[in-house]
Amino acid sequence: MRTLTILGSTGSIGTNTLDVVRQNRSVYQVYALAAGRNVKTLVSQILEFRPKVAVVADSDTLQRLGEALASSGLPRTAWPDLLCGPPALVQVVAAPEVDTVISACVGVAGLEATYESVRLGKRVGLANKEVLVSGGKLVMEAVREHGAELLPVDSEHNGAHQCLEAGNRKAVSRLILTASGGPFRNTPREDLARVTPEQALNHPTWRMGNRITIDCATLMNKGFEVIEACWLFGFASSEVDVVIHPQSTVHAMIEYGDGSVLAQISATDMRMPIQYALTYPERRDAPVPKIDWKVARSWEFLPPDFEKFPLLNLAYQCHDTGGSATCTLNAADEIAVEAFLAGRIGYLSIYEIVSETLSRMPVRNPRTVGEILDIDRESRAKARELVETARASVVTA
Ligand SMILES: NC(=O)c1ccc[n+]([C@@H]2O[C@H](COP(=O)([O-])OP(=O)(O)OC[C@H]3O[C@@H](n4cnc5c(N)ncnc54)[C@H](OP(=O)(O)O)[C@@H]3O)[C@@H](O)[C@H]2O)c1
Repeated sequence: MRTLTILGSTGSIGTNTLDVVRQNRSVYQVYALAAGRNVKTLVSQILEFRPKVAVVADSDTLQRLGEALASSGLPRTAWPDLLCGPPALVQVVAAPEVDTVISACVGVAGLEATYESVRLGKRVGLANKEVLVSGGKLVMEAVREHGAELLPVDSEHNGAHQCLEAGNRKAVSRLILTASGGPFRNTPREDLARVTPEQALNHPTWRMGNRITIDCATLMNKGFEVIEACWLFGFASSEVDVVIHPQSTVHAMIEYGDGSVLAQISATDMRMPIQYALTYPERRDAPVPKIDWKVARSWEFLPPDFEKFPLLNLAYQCHDTGGSATCTLNAADEIAVEAFLAGRIGYLSIYEIVSETLSRMPVRNPRTVGEILDIDRESRAKARELVETARASVVTA
């Protein structure tokens, strides 16, 4: 029996995780569900999974959660303990009953609790890639020091993990991560200035949260994944390639020095990598679509267009710069994506805001989670100023 805390239970990964739990009630129990502000979904999850603790982002949401539970008809004696804020996230991963944490918050909200899970030697199913983008050095040092099991849930890294299990890591010379190419793969560069948030949110193969979906449209997400892969598997950035594969069925490949390539292939369904992270090293049957090999199909593999999607290149550069550069990259991108989704800046300004923030933030070497979060806050503030400047110049023009 595994006892889980799910950080980000109301999101796309969180709800898929709960579906895996739903199918395997005799194997998993939920200790805590942690969400941001989506009270409606959290209440229905509490009623179904009966966690011991439920966490939300802030005190206003906590009050709404209490009111919603009161009107749900659940007797007070059956309520979970209700908590809020970052210390509560740490508390629910640290509880001695919990052996497994699914880290699926979006952004750096999950950094401290994920770091603490690793420090306590728990199994962590990691979807929240911003944890390694912002704090890869610190988190991986803690993994090594405390013997934690950090299993990637991100489909490409999960695929890479599966491929690397097949052979000797030292004999592998290259990792290839696939990318769908997003909704603008075939959009001419000159038309990108006019694309809308609705178009950018229309991902061709995956249904995910808004931030990652926009990051897929700019290929920033793939850049984050390159950084994540370098930390997880000990590759240099020059050993990690990105290949556009619009069918999103081959997730990752590894190449040996002798030129042989192994690929991990599965349908686009996140329940497979989530379940893998929970059951590893065992495998269980899963109710996910299987590939029908009786149906003819073609798979394409194309090189990415680094000029059309400059954020991908910026991610390689930031990883090579090291220190706080990738933390600033993530923070600035989050602010720029938020501004784009709110209609405050255009699509092309996402890159401008991110690269300008990077050029204005000195590179530091954070040694604690607190220092990383300070850099994150400063980078966001800088990016917000740049969003306002960009808006002012549009209004003036
Ligand atoms: N979706 C995918 O298929 C996929 C694949 C690979 C990797 N990932 C990564 O997995 C992470 C989650 O992605 P997603 O698509 O599931 O995002 P999502 O649908 O936007 O869900 C994000 C989750 O984080 C919660 N959250 C936000 N702020 C919080 C806070 N301050 N405290 C606690 N919880 C907070 C949200 O709560 P509320 O909704 O209640 O506010 C929600 O449960 C991201 O890092 C993403 O890059 C996702």
